[in-house]
Amino acid sequence: MRVLLFTGKGGVGKTTTAAATALHCADAGLRTIVLSTDPAHSLADAFGVELGDHPVEIVPGLSGQQLDTQARMEDAWAEIQAWLLEVFEWAGVAAIEAEELSVIPGLDEIFSLSDIKTYADSGEWDVVVVDCAPTAETLRLLSLPEILRWYMDRVFPMSRRINKVVSPILGRVAGIPTPGDEVFGSASRFYDRLDGVRDLLCDTARTSVRLVVNPEKLVVAEARRTHTYLSLFGYRVDAVVANRLLPEAVSDPWFQEWKARHAEHLASIEEGFAPVPVLKAELAPTELVGVEALRGFARDLYGEVDPAAVLHGGEPVEVVRRDGGFELTMELPFADRDDLELGRRGDELLIRVGGYRRAMVLPDSLRRHPVGAASLRDGRLRVTFVGDQASARPRPATDSSPGERRRGGERR
Ligand SMILES: Nc1ncnc2c1ncn2[C@@H]1O[C@H](COP(=O)(O)OP(=O)(O)OP(=O)(O)O)[C@@H](O)[C@H]1O
Ligand SMILES: [Mg+2]
Repeated sequence: MRVLLFTGKGGVGKTTTAAATALHCADAGLRTIVLSTDPAHSLADAFGVELGDHPVEIVPGLSGQQLDTQARMEDAWAEIQAWLLEVFEWAGVAAIEAEELSVIPGLDEIFSLSDIKTYADSGEWDVVVVDCAPTAETLRLLSLPEILRWYMDRVFPMSRRINKVVSPILGRVAGIPTPGDEVFGSASRFYDRLDGVRDLLCDTARTSVRLVVNPEKLVVAEARRTHTYLSLFGYRVDAVVANRLLPEAVSDPWFQEWKARHAEHLASIEEGFAPVPVLKAELAPTELVGVEALRGFARDLYGEVDPAAVLHGGEPVEVVRRDGGFELTMELPFADRDDLELGRRGDELLIRVGGYRRAMVLPDSLRRHPVGAASLRDGRLRVTFVGDQASARPRPATDSSPGERRRGGERR
């Protein structure tokens, strides 16, 4: 089972590429569904069919759906709001405040992600293709499971750990009401949903992001930043799609300058994103609308390449043992040292790159170990965690690393 997410700057050809890829997968005999999380919903226009909030068969083996987050939110809201209100009541928050507080930012969008997961888990589909909104919204969406999880953990003292450990104790303390099983039940279902979404989307064997670009300076610059941020959140970009390249056959002198620019940008895309493969698609003579046009586009784009394969593997975040301690490496392609800040707070490593922050919950193996040094080289952030014995010694100087920019130090 594969999930393929297509994103990129506005208008670069995300919907076209997602639609064509889905069709190509279906033509290869894979049971495929193509979903759109973009409220603009141009997926239906690309295929030239009507699509709604339920799967509709476009051609045999291919279904499409335009996810209506609002509707999904309203379906699921009743249950979630009910338990949130119960929790607030339990915590002694006045009802009116609770109503306001229970509107958690991003809660609605989590439902479109959990739809992706529902389809991925259903066993009915071999490939789930997702036509995402332009990059900024997509990044917001993809950073949600973790942010929301972080938020929930703090707003509600009811992680499953606490559920198991504290609840029976609370139950025995006279006068303190314990929330009912249903409340814990819905809360843990919600946690599971969040965890499940993140596990699926960050599983590099199952989920890949494909970045669509045009051979233009600003588009490529944004794609680089997107690649950095996607890596920060643990998502794997397995291919770049360079779309709208001027065809060789165009020989009109008026286009010579354009062709030269395209060739330059293409070279910089291939060099900059390597080892991520670059798939190429030419500018078509007309708009790419309808099944036949999309089929032709997909054939040119993929050639002999299997559209559902993992086109570039590896883990964006890895932890290895080193010198009696551990080293965590995170791919942050194109990231700049001046744009990077690191901090440690309890069990979390706080990483800020440009406008994006991640509070990464550290794996169990690293929790007891203080951060030693950090460096950013060749698009790779390395953070060393000193071993038990080494941690007793003074820390090495970190002048060649962004360690001096660390905020928060080892505060707990
Ligand atoms: N290689 C191409 N040759 C010709 N037309 C193309 C090509 N790629 C995309 N188009 C056309 O460009 C228009 C925009 O493409 P598309 O809707 O796929 O972009 P998008 O990135 O999804 O845009 P948005 O950000 O609005 O969602 C469409 O009319 C599409 O048919
Ligand atoms: Mg689109």
